[in-house]
Amino acid sequence: MSEEEKKVELRTSLAEKAADAIEAELDMISKGDLSYIGDPELDKLSNQNEKLKHRLVVLENAIDTESSCSNAPSAKVKPKNLPSLITDISSVEGNICLVDELKNVFEVAIRSAYPNLDDPPVVISLSGSNPKFGDYQCNSAMAISQLLKAKNVKTNPREVANNILNKTPSSPFIERIEVAGAGFLNIYINKAIVEHILNSILRSGIKPPKVKRQRVIVDFSAPNIAKEMHVGHLRSTIIGESISRLLEFLEHDVVRLNHLGDWGTQFGMLIAHLQDKFPDFKKTSPPIADLQAFYKESKKRFDSEEDFKKRAYQCVVQLQAFHPDYITAWKLICEVSRQEFQRIYDRLDVTIIDRGESFYHDRMPKVVKQLKDGGFLEEDNGRLIMWMDPDNKKNGLIPLTVVKSDGGFTYDTSDLATIKHRVEEEKGERFIYVVDNGQANHFVILDACARRAGILKGDHKIEFVGFGVVLGEDKKKFKTRSGDTIKLSELLDEGLNRSLSKLIEKGRDKILTPEELKQAQEAVAYGCIKYADMSHNRLNDYVFSFDKMLDDKGNTAVYLLYALTRIRSIARTAQVSQEQLKAEFAKTGFQFEHEAEWKLGKVLLRFPEIILKVANDLFLHTLCEYLYEISSVFTEFYDKCYCVEKDKDGNVIKVNYSRLMLCEVTATFMEKCFDILGIRTVAKM
Ligand code: ARG
Repeated sequence: MSEEEKKVELRTSLAEKAADAIEAELDMISKGDLSYIGDPELDKLSNQNEKLKHRLVVLENAIDTESSCSNAPSAKVKPKNLPSLITDISSVEGNICLVDELKNVFEVAIRSAYPNLDDPPVVISLSGSNPKFGDYQCNSAMAISQLLKAKNVKTNPREVANNILNKTPSSPFIERIEVAGAGFLNIYINKAIVEHILNSILRSGIKPPKVKRQRVIVDFSAPNIAKEMHVGHLRSTIIGESISRLLEFLEHDVVRLNHLGDWGTQFGMLIAHLQDKFPDFKKTSPPIADLQAFYKESKKRFDSEEDFKKRAYQCVVQLQAFHPDYITAWKLICEVSRQEFQRIYDRLDVTIIDRGESFYHDRMPKVVKQLKDGGFLEEDNGRLIMWMDPDNKKNGLIPLTVVKSDGGFTYDTSDLATIKHRVEEEKGERFIYVVDNGQANHFVILDACARRAGILKGDHKIEFVGFGVVLGEDKKKFKTRSGDTIKLSELLDEGLNRSLSKLIEKGRDKILTPEELKQAQEAVAYGCIKYADMSHNRLNDYVFSFDKMLDDKGNTAVYLLYALTRIRSIARTAQVSQEQLKAEFAKTGFQFEHEAEWKLGKVLLRFPEIILKVANDLFLHTLCEYLYEISSVFTEFYDKCYCVEKDKDGNVIKVNYSRLMLCEVTATFMEKCFDILGIRTVAKM
């Protein structure tokens, strides 16, 4: 058998074995305990399954490397340093990521149990709702047992699990570990550590988990001048704002950029039309408030009047030569649009710096020259194009059009100049683009071309944060009843009206002051639009429905905002002041007596893990799900545990300060999540 055939055989057999093991595992779980198979459990299992599959790929690659190195023993992989473990509880800070700590503990255990395995898989996951399976699980034993079998070592997962257990160092995070089923390690978290962490958060607030600081460019919103900012831009705006907030919370250096469509041939016809309609435009500001209509008129003329078309082209030439009159006209048009966009940003609490395509005007010829000199451009019917992979032109992806046949530049050219600027001048380290899924390929090609040209190097890459289209309740493209595209400002107005009716329907107008009512109305209206957008996996299309987003039951902003105000009011209605609460709590501390209190405490502790996950994959629905989970687990706690006991007449007879404090920390965590999601909270609603 050739070396190649051996490799293939080894891989196939390993892949088969691992697949068998995964299947056996699923089978065993489903047979072992039927209560295990609630929907969330299945989700979790398939999640684990995915992780195992990923490990498999990693392992296969490792085997690959090993077998290809087998003739060169000097090329052995250097062993990594073992992670250092926390042994002293007093050194633990409130921002600790529990799951990472557990990973460290088990990495030490696994590597000392199996020193001959390179990079053994350390798989730690949450155990799900059944307390019988511990709080977390280490599921490495199955995969390790397969690895050993491939090396002809006779063993089974349970034996491996026991070996790992024997080598697990003691840790202040872990109360005990049990080997269960075919080889799971069930981990029970130490109560003392949860108390310690929550105490530290009460003392110094919620601190971000520690990460290496990076300069991150977030390209979002990016509407086009003279055109309506549409619901697609709304999604980009909402998602981009939250991603920026999240990364800022992690103390990254975030640059929020609005890549406005503010340059290009359409300005020729706009300026030509402006010259005809408002020849006085240099002296007085023309009433082109409805720029949209103005744009339509000029487009119509452009398509039907030959003379106008010619003049429009001349206007582009003049503009691009920076002729002052034309620049004045262009600025005027941009300004009208910008003011409109800014009104939307103000309403939605969005902060962004305008840096439109025009900014790159001077930089475009430079990048074109660089590409020409590098021999990356090809001629194609008068245009100059760039392929991402000239040896594989049939990969289904089109080339970038770098120079048009008339010598002009395109969206592609400006994006090439943009990435070059962001790498070389902005010194960015992460490049995030929040743009609709329709442009996914554009960014794949852009990344590859920028890499080919040496603009993007090493692990610098374009991170495309795509999202699906907004649909109406009829599951068709979101339109008004009359079939027009929806004006964003009108959509937000409708949100305000709807949220007010909802509040009135619940009689809130009789309880709140006019000022409070207005605050609640805005928080609910904008909050529900944002939350509905972000609580779904962004890659999917999403159905815009005010009825659904304003439902006060289920996973909606309204429900969660209500939940938060209710939690905040618990201490207030018990007539316990913040000072009193702090003083009494100082005496009691946290007492996790009831299972429901304990469960809530552990959910709160997952915050750093969630934040780090979202900062990595930029899927905000994970944060929304977490927020919803906090509120569900809180409700469970509140139903089961008295915080305040009252007699028949409503007089407070007993206050449980530990529980009241748990309410306070819960509210603090929820507020932090809302803040990252860009959703305003209110004291009363
Ligand atoms: N203005 C573009 C549009 O409306 C989005 C720009 C996204 N950013 C970028 N660097 N291409 O589709």
